[in-house]
Amino acid sequence: MSRIVISGASGDLGRRVTRLLLEADPGIELALVTRTPEKLADRAAQGVTVMKGDYRDRESLDAAYSGAETLLLISGLNLGRRISEHRNAIAAAQQAGIRHIVYTSVGGGEQPNNPALSAKDHKTTEQDLRSSGIAYTLLRNHLYAEIVSNVWIAPATASGRLEMATGQGSLAPVAKGDVARSAAAVLRDPERHASGAYEITGPELLSMQDIVRIGSEVHGVPITYVPQTGEQRLAFFDSVGLPRTYDPAMPPSPDGHMWASDELVSADLAVAGGYQALLTQHVKQITGRDPEPLRSVMERVKSVPYDQIDDAV
Ligand SMILES: NC(=O)c1ccc[n+]([C@@H]2O[C@H](COP(=O)([O-])OP(=O)(O)OC[C@H]3O[C@@H](n4cnc5c(N)ncnc54)[C@H](OP(=O)(O)O)[C@@H]3O)[C@@H](O)[C@H]2O)c1
Repeated sequence: MSRIVISGASGDLGRRVTRLLLEADPGIELALVTRTPEKLADRAAQGVTVMKGDYRDRESLDAAYSGAETLLLISGLNLGRRISEHRNAIAAAQQAGIRHIVYTSVGGGEQPNNPALSAKDHKTTEQDLRSSGIAYTLLRNHLYAEIVSNVWIAPATASGRLEMATGQGSLAPVAKGDVARSAAAVLRDPERHASGAYEITGPELLSMQDIVRIGSEVHGVPITYVPQTGEQRLAFFDSVGLPRTYDPAMPPSPDGHMWASDELVSADLAVAGGYQALLTQHVKQITGRDPEPLRSVMERVKSVPYDQIDDAV
């Protein structure tokens, strides 16, 4: 197998995919690309190639992607601005002669009128990939089950109320381990997945009532779902000091992530509008394994801060 580049390799998904690929084939040729190579000092010490590459700096990507055949393009975090960042990555891949790009998109992202701000970015990048002339696979990753567990439910145990603008929508949260296993399997055999657009979901379509019931049982605390309007949620986020719009310079939230309220509320409204109500067998088809149910994820990670969840699962 020829060289695989993982771009966005220092993040949680990148680390998981790297581990899975090395476990499957210790001799695999990898290049790990990140803005912060020091975060991957452990891998560099093991002899894995680690390169500096910033989606905003095309030249850095040209150098980092050179000599590779397959690219895992892990989507960036700069809402709105990442469209041009991903274009830099695609242009660098063309320059480097990369033959296949595997892209981490968002669940339901291609549906017209999806209000989720992140979906607009991903839809544009999907279109850019289709017209790039490079073979591609789209992994439309649904909401991480770890976010439902540790960002939605765990904080709601204090008040017993889960207040969101998700209406009566439903969703199929997927464990990060299953997202990573799917990506690693596609990277090991990209030709088999050429032009594939997979909805990477968990094993169950859950209503908000289902989610609070599971949360109540796992935590042993009654939690009620209290639907809110988008305006009520924006006002709440304002009251706790969350910025309305994403800014790369903003401080991370206590869970270590950089959340902006317009993106969070638009994601809620996408659930309310039914844009996340998709359930597929794609994880099983790609990996041969049944995806992990939300209850199991929650039992495993419920007492760990979101940014400290063990990535070895
Ligand atoms: N499905 C979901 O529920 C969900 C939730 C959150 C995010 N996401 C998306 O899925 C992606 C992977 O998730 P994750 O959990 O691995 O996120 P993560 O842990 O926050 O990692 C994000 C990665 O993107 C890299 N990155 C950010 N901006 C970059 C830039 N300008 N140039 C190069 N690299 C950049 C970061 O690396 P450096 O900072 O070291 O460069 C990091 O490796 C995220 O980036 C986001 O687009 C999905």
